[in-house]
Amino acid sequence: MLLSTTAEKIADLRERQKNADTDLQATQKQHDRGKLTARERIHALLDPESFSELDAMAVHRSNNFGMDKRKPLGDGVVTGHGTIDGRPVCVFAQDFTIFGGSLGEVVAEKICKVQDLALRMGVPCIGINDSGGARIQEGVASLAGYGEIFYRNVLSSGVIPQFSVITGPCAGGAVYSPALTDFIFMVQGIGQMYITGPDVIKTVTGEEVGFDELGGAGIHNSRSGVAHFAAESEQACFDQIRTLLSFLPANNMEDPPYIPPDDDPQRTDDRLNTLVPDNPRRPYDINAVIESVVDDGFFFEIQSMWARNIVIGLARLDGHVVGVVANQPNYLAGTLDIDSSVKGARFIRFCDAFNIPIISFVDVPGFLPGTQQEYGGIIRHGAKLLYAYCEATVPKLTVITRKAYGGAYIVMSSKHLRSDFNFSWPTAEIAVMGVDAAVGIIFRREITEAADPATRRTELSEEYQRRFSNPYVAAERGFVDTVIEPSQTRPELIRALRLSRTKRQSLPPRKHGNIPL
Ligand code: HXC
Repeated sequence: MLLSTTAEKIADLRERQKNADTDLQATQKQHDRGKLTARERIHALLDPESFSELDAMAVHRSNNFGMDKRKPLGDGVVTGHGTIDGRPVCVFAQDFTIFGGSLGEVVAEKICKVQDLALRMGVPCIGINDSGGARIQEGVASLAGYGEIFYRNVLSSGVIPQFSVITGPCAGGAVYSPALTDFIFMVQGIGQMYITGPDVIKTVTGEEVGFDELGGAGIHNSRSGVAHFAAESEQACFDQIRTLLSFLPANNMEDPPYIPPDDDPQRTDDRLNTLVPDNPRRPYDINAVIESVVDDGFFFEIQSMWARNIVIGLARLDGHVVGVVANQPNYLAGTLDIDSSVKGARFIRFCDAFNIPIISFVDVPGFLPGTQQEYGGIIRHGAKLLYAYCEATVPKLTVITRKAYGGAYIVMSSKHLRSDFNFSWPTAEIAVMGVDAAVGIIFRREITEAADPATRRTELSEEYQRRFSNPYVAAERGFVDTVIEPSQTRPELIRALRLSRTKRQSLPPRKHGNIPL
C-alpha cells in the first residue's frame, strides 16, 4: 500500500495504533475477569496525558504454530515513560489480551529497552505483570529474554527504584524479575505468583491447592513475605505506588524529595511519657510512638502483614524522608526471629542505597528461642540484620524505649555498629538478659541455699534491676548519648537529623562484602 499524503499516513498510523489494542474479544474477556487492560493500567497509574509509548509498532518474528497469521502491533507488552506527580518514570505493562501476555523475544526486547532507558536516565522503573509466562511457541528465545530482563534488574538494583505490580498470573521462572526488584505490589483476587502451579503440584506431590491459596496477595503479604503491599483494587494499588514514590529519590545519586513541613519541629508529646507500661511484660503499640514523632503522624508502613514483630516504613521528619525500623512489643513481644531479621535487613539496605536516614526504635527482649528458629537458621538470618546495620553509611539514629537485651541490643543499631545518635528513654533496660533469667543463672546457688529462697530471689532481682535494668550504666560509658524525656523524642531526633545531613562515611574499598545470605 502506497500512502501519498500526510493525512493518509496519519490516518494509517492511528489505525495501526487502534489495532494494537483492539482485540475486542480479548479486551472484553479481560474486563470480565475484573481486570484493566495494559494501556488502561498505565493511564490509571501515570499523570493524565503524560504517557509516551515506545515500540508500539513492534511485532513478533515467530512463524511457529501459526504465529505468522497473527502479528499484533506492539506484541504482548506496552512500554514507555510518563510522570507521576510530575516526576518522570519508565513503565511497562504486560498485555494479557495478546497471547496471554506471554513473553517472547520481542516482548523481552521491549522490556529490556525501557529498563535500559530507566537506568540511563536515572528514573524509577515500574513493571506491571499479567502474563502466562514464557511464550511456548518461541521456545528458548523466550527464556533468553527472561535472562536479559533479570540481568538488567540486577544492574539497576540500588541505582534506581524498581517496582513490580502483580495484576494477573506471574508464574514459573517469571517470578524472578519481580523478586529482584525493590517492592512487589499485589492486587487481591487477580494477582498470583508461584513457581509451579496447582496442576503441577498435584501431579508431583498430590497436594491440592487453589491459585489464590497458593500464591495470592494474602499469602505473599502475610505468609511468604514475597510481596510488600496488597490492594483491594488496581486503582488502590496505583495509589499505593504513587505514595511510595513520593518518598523516594529518582536514583541513588539524589536525595529523597523534601517537603517543607507544616508540623512544628519543636512539637513535643506528653502522651509518650506514660506510654510504656510499668509492668515490663505488658505490650504496647510501637506504631503509636512512630506516629507521634513523625511529621503529621503520617507513617507509610511496608510489609505490614508479615513478620509483624518488626515494623518498617517511611515517613518524614522535619520535611526530610526517613526510614523507620522498630521492634513491635505487641507481636511476639518484639523478639527478633528469622522473618523479622530478613525483613529489617532488606529494608535497611534499600534505605542505605537510596540515601534515606534510618531511625530505629528499640524494645527487644532478644532473639526468639526454639528449635524451629535454630533449625531454620536464625544464626544465619539474624546475621543479615546485623550486617545491614553495620554496612549502612546513611545517618543512623536510635531510640531505646524499653528492653535492649543481649545480642539483640547490639544488632538493633547500637553505638557499636556506628549508629550516629543513640537516645534512651528513662524506661530503658539495657542488659545481657532479662532479670528473671539473669538472677536464675548468676545467683542459682545462693537462692537454693537461702533459708527463704523466694524472698532471696526477690531481693536479688531488685538489686539486679537497680544495677542493670536502666539506661544509666550504658550512658556512663557513652553507649547511650543522651537519656531523654519521651515527650521530647521528636525535637531531639530532628536536631540530630539536622546535624547528620552532612554526614560523610565510606567503607574500605572492596568488590563487595559477603552478606550471609
Ligand atoms: C503462549 C499463552 C501462554 C504461554 C497463555 N497463553 N499462556 N501463549 N505461551 N505461556 C495464551 C493462551 O493460549 C490463550 O490464547 C491466551 O493466552 C489466554 O490464556 P487462557 O489459558 O485462555 O487464560 P486463562 O484461562 O485465564 O489462564 C491463564 C493461565 C494459563 C493460568 C496463565 O494460560 C496458563 O496456565 N498458561 C501457561 C502458564 C505456564 O505454565 N507458563 C509457563 C511458565 S514457566 P488464545 O489465543 O486461546 O486466547 C515460565 C518459564 C519462565 O514462564 C522461565 C524464566 C527463567
